[in-house]
Amino acid sequence: MEKVFKGKEIDLAVGELASLLKKAKKTVILTGAGMDTESNIPDFRSKNGWWKKIDPRMVASTESLYNDYSLFHEFYLMRIKLLEGIVPHEGHYIIADLEKRGMIKSVVTQNVAGLHTVAGNQNVYELHGNIKSIRCDGCNQGAKLEDFFAGKDCTSCGARALRPNVVLFGETLPPQVWEDAVGDIKSCDLLIVIGTSLEVYPVNQLPLWARGKTVFINNEDRGAGYPFDLRIIGKAGEVLRKLQEKL
Ligand code: APR
Repeated sequence: MEKVFKGKEIDLAVGELASLLKKAKKTVILTGAGMDTESNIPDFRSKNGWWKKIDPRMVASTESLYNDYSLFHEFYLMRIKLLEGIVPHEGHYIIADLEKRGMIKSVVTQNVAGLHTVAGNQNVYELHGNIKSIRCDGCNQGAKLEDFFAGKDCTSCGARALRPNVVLFGETLPPQVWEDAVGDIKSCDLLIVIGTSLEVYPVNQLPLWARGKTVFINNEDRGAGYPFDLRIIGKAGEVLRKLQEKL
């Protein structure tokens, strides 16, 4: 029977999460954009999210890349520039500490700013790629970030197709990363899902494939119908801070 905790009950819930974590032999953490908002990176679907202002098909899809490169380029240029000076928040460092202490096996993330790696996690599966890594969509050759900033064409094939190594709407996830992440999630005995609306396929299937205990930490109650054992409605940073105190 799932338990939903919010408000002042959070301490109780975090106590339960701490005991699950201590008991677990293999824990995986799955994160979404809600893990990065406390580092001042907007998410996508809450009230100030990107997709509340912009239609993703216009700027973050294969159609936009092929049919309106200048708008595509402008959008990603703006998103990458907004990352200047952005650093992990305390919650990222707590997750990195959990890996250092051998309490979690890996982090599976939908986020593309790379903050888990910057915070010190070694086993990170970036299912949607990394926005600061650039390649040519024509010949797949890696390209420099400054060439993307300058709006240059590909230096090896000349195509006007430099793009970030992120998964656009209409593209499939990187096969090996996906396979490895699915393997970890299917074999873990505790999956902690943090800061995601669970709206986007196929990542939104992962919590259903976990065979152990599953916990959902989000600042709005999403994922109705998911059989989470524990739902903690609160901010990622606050819940992780309380969790660290109980370990
Ligand atoms: N703490 C906890 N939850 C938070 C916080 C926070 N500080 N801030 C936001 N949230 C919650 C929001 O309420 C929302 O339910 O995180 C969730 C983020 O959901 P989305 O914005 O849909 O982000 P995400 O689930 O990661 O989106 C998946 O969609 O557009 C694509 O590629 C993009 O990777 C992204 C994918």
